[in-house]
Amino acid sequence: MAKIKIALAGVGNSASSTIQGLHYYGNLANEDKSVGLRSLTLAGYHPRDIEPVAAFDIDTRKVGKDLSKAIFAEPNNAVKIFEVPELGITVQKGQVLDGVGRFLKDMVRVDASPAVDVTKILKESGAEILVNLLPSGAVQASQWYAAQALHAGCAFINVTPVRIASDEGWAKRFKDADLPIVGDDLIDQVGATTIHKTLLQLLSKQGVRISQTYQLDVGGGTESLDTLERSRKTKRLTKTKTVQSALPYKAAVVAGTTDYVDFLQNRRDSYLWLEGSYFGGAPMEIELRLCTLDGPNAGSVLLDVIRAVKVALERGDAGAVLSISAYAFKQPLQMLPLEEARRLFERFLQ
Ligand SMILES: NC(=O)c1ccc[n+]([C@@H]2O[C@H](COP(=O)([O-])OP(=O)(O)OC[C@H]3O[C@@H](n4cnc5c(N)ncnc54)[C@H](O)[C@@H]3O)[C@@H](O)[C@H]2O)c1
Repeated sequence: MAKIKIALAGVGNSASSTIQGLHYYGNLANEDKSVGLRSLTLAGYHPRDIEPVAAFDIDTRKVGKDLSKAIFAEPNNAVKIFEVPELGITVQKGQVLDGVGRFLKDMVRVDASPAVDVTKILKESGAEILVNLLPSGAVQASQWYAAQALHAGCAFINVTPVRIASDEGWAKRFKDADLPIVGDDLIDQVGATTIHKTLLQLLSKQGVRISQTYQLDVGGGTESLDTLERSRKTKRLTKTKTVQSALPYKAAVVAGTTDYVDFLQNRRDSYLWLEGSYFGGAPMEIELRLCTLDGPNAGSVLLDVIRAVKVALERGDAGAVLSISAYAFKQPLQMLPLEEARRLFERFLQ
């Protein structure tokens, strides 16, 4: 198979797990050994076919380093699953813009060197896809990278909750440029939102009437701290909307990030609670705690998305690709029920 050449904007925890995953799974030949991936080969592509060709960050502990080292540089705290060999890709300095929020200014050390010409580097590196992994509060910077992707002729994957792929204006700009775009806000592989939605759907199919439910979480990555300051409100809106969409009627729903607990490191603890009534109005409640690691939670889905976007490029799909966005992102241009999104994605790959 041809290589899938990707560039990364942001070398944080999600980037770290994804790059480690490329090498960890890239060495596997058998499907039965590939625990943690939905499929080792997707549309004919193996993880080893994904080749990072450029990476951008602003932290001085990452800029100028080989990507294999930068993914383990502080303040990243994603778990090490694989010793990545030297990749020959130097992390380059991007435009800072609103990349560093107030809460992160003591944790992120902005490199003093001037920003590089990102469009030029994307073109020279042969990157086909730019993956946006910036902090969720970096609205201007995320949009700026989307514009660089357009200028360089790259497809765009928006992992962040910043509205880009779900914005009609941006989707049109990519359509006009004959480039695919997918997003926004990646769905975790073992995510509290997916589990919450699945539980609600299951119970309501059983005839249970849910009256109230919440999903709150605490995490220890820089992303949790940034969310606390800048994107808590947006995240709460997005998550609440997607959880509510699992029910065929209105209930009191609250879902969103609540706090930062430094010693958790890259761990995220999510608390789910729901209350409802069943036969004859009998009351019922469920309480559940989910403990996961943030970085690996993005890696598996992202490997699928990258390979699917390559398929979209090969087919000449342009603009917001619904089959990928509805399946792998919390905020697509059009929200679909879980099963329908999965079917659409599978049909797309066939
Ligand atoms: N499971 C997951 O991790 C998951 C799931 C869904 C969505 N997301 C989204 O993915 C994004 C990344 O998450 P993360 O945990 O890797 O965050 P992170 O804070 O670990 O990494 C962000 C990186 O971006 C860099 N950065 C900041 N401004 C920049 C700029 N202007 N140019 C280049 N680099 C810049 C930072 O230095 C840092 O290395 C977030 O928006 C998050 O909401 C993650």
